[in-house]
Amino acid sequence: MDKVTELYTAEEISRRVKAMASDIAVTVTDKELVVVALLNGSFIFAADLIRDLSIHNLNPQVDFITLASYGSSTKSSGKIQALKGLSIDVKNKYVLLVDDILESGRTLEFARKMVFEAGAADVSIAVLLEKPGKNTKPELKADFIGFKVPDLFVVGYGLDYANRHRELPYIGVLEHTE
Ligand code: IMP
Ligand code: MG
Repeated sequence: MDKVTELYTAEEISRRVKAMASDIAVTVTDKELVVVALLNGSFIFAADLIRDLSIHNLNPQVDFITLASYGSSTKSSGKIQALKGLSIDVKNKYVLLVDDILESGRTLEFARKMVFEAGAADVSIAVLLEKPGKNTKPELKADFIGFKVPDLFVVGYGLDYANRHRELPYIGVLEHTE
């Protein structure tokens, strides 16, 4: 049985995502923007974020990539693999990478490399959550961060445990009991 204890309400998330969109809009004015969302975890965050970006008259192209690290469970493991790459041309464009959570930084480092190799002019990173102190890639920093979360396993608002709990409108801490 999984028990989920609420950490951020749907209202708190909505307010924070709107504020992030405002911050992003300030930095990307006049640039040709491509939002690249990392599936699966960021699908709800990305959907809200791009609609909030439209409030600031940003009309990005939107693409999705799917990255997976070997092994699932609650530990982020070593090797990253691209299950689906870029579908649109990002050459000379300004890319905003969007992910649910930055933990070790391996996933986003892989994604950033992939986008630069595809010729992006510049890459910024927006994450809904960051777990401070867990990043093993000091050169990789998120430019826009929703919430800094304690080192606990969180689910909801797109984040999963074994592909469950993504549908929760809030973010909560998962207590996994047998
Ligand atoms: P990183 O590569 O170590 O930065 O891990 C980031 C990825 O691990 C995220 O995209 C998530 O898919 C997953 N992840 C890390 N921590 C959590 C968590 O607390 N809940 C759900 N997924 C997580
Ligand atoms: Mg993920």
